[in-house]
Amino acid sequence: MSTAKGEDKKVTTHTLLEMKKRGEKISMLTAYDFSLARILDDAGIDVLLVGDSASNVMAGHETTLPITLDQMIYHASSVVRAVKRALVVVDLPFGSYQGNSKEALNSSIRIMKESGAHAVKLEGGREVKDPIERILSAGVPVMGHLGLTPQSIYKFGTYVVRAKEEGEAQRLIEDANLLAETGCFAIVLEKIPAQLATRVAQEVKIPIIGIGAGAGVDGQVLVLHDMLGINHEFHPRFLRRYASLYEEIKAATENYISDVKSRDFPNEREQY
Ligand code: KIV
Repeated sequence: MSTAKGEDKKVTTHTLLEMKKRGEKISMLTAYDFSLARILDDAGIDVLLVGDSASNVMAGHETTLPITLDQMIYHASSVVRAVKRALVVVDLPFGSYQGNSKEALNSSIRIMKESGAHAVKLEGGREVKDPIERILSAGVPVMGHLGLTPQSIYKFGTYVVRAKEEGEAQRLIEDANLLAETGCFAIVLEKIPAQLATRVAQEVKIPIIGIGAGAGVDGQVLVLHDMLGINHEFHPRFLRRYASLYEEIKAATENYISDVKSRDFPNEREQY
C-alpha cells in the first residue's frame, strides 16, 4: 500500500489501474493553484483534478461554461509546479473538444505542452468517441466523465441526480463500456444512484471515480472548496465537510481588522 507521501513514487495511470485491481481506493480532489496543490500533494492525494469548476469557485461564474483554454492552462501550470507525486488531470473546457476532433487534439496538446500536466478529462459518452480517439492517438491519456456533466447544464436544466430512469441508466452503462474500450484510463461518475455506479465499477475494467455516486466505486473526488467549507452555501447530500474554512478565514480577517483599527498590530516586535 502506498503511504502517500512526497517521497513516494509518482502516481501514473498504471498505478490507478493497479489500485483498482487490488481494491485500494483512489483519492482525488480538485486543485487550481500552487499553494493549495502543494498541501494536497504533501498530504498524499493520489490524483489532482484541475477541474473546470475553477470557473465557479475561482472566478465566481454560475456555470463551468465560461472558462477558457488559456485560463485552464494557467491554473494547471500552477498546480503542476507544486506537485511531486500526484497525477495531475486537467479538464478540457467547454467548446475546446466537442464536435471537432482536430480541435480536441490541439487543445489537449496545448494543455500537456504548456502546463506539464499528465492527462486530460472530458465530458460525455458515445458523442465524444472520435475526439477521444484522436487525443489518444497523440499519446495523451484521457479520463471520461459521465452522469451529471456540468458542461451540459443548459440541456439538463438542473443539477439533480442523473440516470434514475432505466433508459438513461442503460445508456450510461453502454457509454462507460465504450469509454473503457476506446482507451480511457478512468471515468468520473457524477451524481448517479449508488447501485448503478457500483454496477459500472464492477463491470468496467478501468477505475471509476465517484462524486455523489456512493461507496461501491474505485475512488472518490470532491471539489476542494466544498470539502474545506470555503464554499459554505453549497451542501448537497453527497458532500462531507472536512473543515469550516469560511468561518475560520472570516474570524481571522475580523481579528486582523480589529487589531489594525485598535493599533494593536503591529507591535514593537513586529517592526524594524
Ligand atoms: O470540474 C470539476 O470539478 C469536476 C469534478 C466535479 C469531478 O469535474
